[in-house]
Amino acid sequence: MELGKHERDILKGRKGEGMKKALEILIILAEIHNAKRLIPITSAQISGVSYKTIGDAGLEFLKDMAEAEIKVNTPSTLNPAGVDFTSELKFPEDFVEKQREIIDTYTKMGILPSCTCTPYYAGNLPRMGDHIAWAESSAVIYANSVLGAMTNRESALSALSAALVGKVPDYGLHMKENRAPTLLVEVEYPIINEADYAALGYHIGQNYEGIPYFRIRKKPRAEDLKTLGAALATGQVSMFHYHNITPEASHYPIDKIEKVELGQKEVSEAYEKLNSTEDVDIIAVGCPHAGITEILDVIKADPKREVWVFTSKNLKELFKDRIDNENIKLIADTCMVVSPIEKMGIKSIGVNSAKAAFYSMNLSNLKVKFDSLENLLKE
Ligand code: F3S
Repeated sequence: MELGKHERDILKGRKGEGMKKALEILIILAEIHNAKRLIPITSAQISGVSYKTIGDAGLEFLKDMAEAEIKVNTPSTLNPAGVDFTSELKFPEDFVEKQREIIDTYTKMGILPSCTCTPYYAGNLPRMGDHIAWAESSAVIYANSVLGAMTNRESALSALSAALVGKVPDYGLHMKENRAPTLLVEVEYPIINEADYAALGYHIGQNYEGIPYFRIRKKPRAEDLKTLGAALATGQVSMFHYHNITPEASHYPIDKIEKVELGQKEVSEAYEKLNSTEDVDIIAVGCPHAGITEILDVIKADPKREVWVFTSKNLKELFKDRIDNENIKLIADTCMVVSPIEKMGIKSIGVNSAKAAFYSMNLSNLKVKFDSLENLLKE
């Protein structure tokens, strides 16, 4: 494995124990995947932020790292935490305290507490061809597929290590030859709304691995690509191509790859799996975090029942004085999955995201109604 002077110094312990540990983790990863070198990255997106998902063990590990006084070597942003500290919602007090400690610890390492899974809406916007180390699966697939940046799906630990060292092992989706489509998906039914995209992504994500290439007549909105990607990433998919839309779709031949035709049956099955109730306590949108268009969609719908909209703090700030409807709660820094929602009196939830439906059922034990925003708001 080729190492430069910077890395050799780190391994000799000249940059501190924490940095040495981070580089050792990257070298082990490189060895596992036969990577011959480490390559510089332009940004990192760190997961493992909510106290709900990392617990006390994760917090103690982070504190140990931060005590070594190390700082990240690349612009780095954080995934959603479990709390919006500025919200009127009542988060459990002990949880809030632990969450504050986690964010302070990351901040001490020089990581920006952006607390969003859409870092590309919040200033961490990689260019096409940039190598990055992102850990949030929905952001990874968006970066690879829609932005044309190059990242593997890092774990919380490997993304943090890459942020500290400023490099990642060169393997997987960092190499052009591994970004070619492996499955041609012909969609034989009309896709009408965002939930249809989510159901399609969920079906493929749960049943196939590799890199799907979608041939669909409908032209998606950018938000639909985000929803589709997040649903694909509930399985092992970290990149997709969309005919005539995504930037690398025309770079590879598709005539010899496996082909699958999907009809109404497969999508209906996905809807069935993602639905477990008809009545819900609240509707929650913004998985991944809502962008401007999706927030405007909710405002325009003028909901007569409570809708929690999860977004990044910059968009919450932008919209906070522009919403008159008291049923709309704008919440930043967290989401319906990584907040302790099940301890806040919520037992059932309506969502238009397959990822939110999947994890609300499996992580938070909530009853779920999955459908488009328009249908969820129908009385
Ligand atoms: Fe983001 Fe939470 Fe969904 S982190 S992708 S809104 S599960």
